[in-house]
Amino acid sequence: MSDLVISGYKDKEEIDSPCISHVYNMDCLEFMKQLPDNYFDLAISDPPYGGGNDDGAYNRFGELFNKYKPKKDDGKKEKAINYSQGGIFAKYNDPAKKDVEDKLGRIEWDVAPKAEFFDELFRVSKNQVIWGGNYFPLPPTRCFLIWKKHVPENFSMAMCEYAWTSFAKNAKVFELPSTGIPFRFHPTQKPEALYAWVYKLLANKGDKLFDPMMGSQSSRVAAYKMGFDYYGCELCDDYFKQGVEKFDRECLGEVKAADGKVIKQMSLFD
Ligand SMILES: C[S@@+](CC[C@H](N)C(=O)[O-])C[C@H]1O[C@@H](n2cnc3c(N)ncnc32)[C@H](O)[C@@H]1O
Repeated sequence: MSDLVISGYKDKEEIDSPCISHVYNMDCLEFMKQLPDNYFDLAISDPPYGGGNDDGAYNRFGELFNKYKPKKDDGKKEKAINYSQGGIFAKYNDPAKKDVEDKLGRIEWDVAPKAEFFDELFRVSKNQVIWGGNYFPLPPTRCFLIWKKHVPENFSMAMCEYAWTSFAKNAKVFELPSTGIPFRFHPTQKPEALYAWVYKLLANKGDKLFDPMMGSQSSRVAAYKMGFDYYGCELCDDYFKQGVEKFDRECLGEVKAADGKVIKQMSLFD
């Protein structure tokens, strides 16, 4: 059983056997604020990079590199980036921007998190893996991870993804096509095999894992199948619901029928 008492979620699922798997439909910042320091052994995060920021690509890198920006014709610098003010949190909490939430509870989520997110993430976890770490002002690291996706060079998407990690180990590369992910419903859904590879490399038996922005819950499914205790958050109601259904189907053998009834799949030996 978990020793955590969490408030402020819209929905949740708490599985306690054979390992802890607790997930909450809520803002991860509100979740982390309720936790003691170093509660998790490993945080695996895949934050939005910021394609949905009002300021476009310029908002992705925080204020760190503003001084290098080209000046406009009128001699003024490009619009300054306000990293500390930006992020989904600001948008979501701003009543004037509530219209970004649609009927499914989908929000405009591709907005880079503000600095407070990283402060809290580093406070509540002993080690961190941050996918898309190249978009954020993180310290230098020896141990970065590359996911090589086997997409052709002339394809419109990136051939690989980068994860920043807090470990002092060798950098590693994992090769797995990004196509053909089963039960795909999330626009940036990562394969469970990728998370399983990360856990095998960087997690130890008995570790408590945390994904603050689970999306499709691939990180959760991999953790459960490998026997790790796991906690996760997802802000979007619809992704949360579909993620829970994916987990229930993949890990508990449960399928929801059209009338909402849960059908338990029988194993060959039942
Ligand atoms: C890049 S996606 C993660 C994809 C995930 N790795 C997967 O394999 O499906 C980021 C997710 O973070 C969620 N999100 C954004 N801001 C959040 C917040 N403040 N708290 C919790 N979840 C958030 C978004 O709704 C989105 O599903």
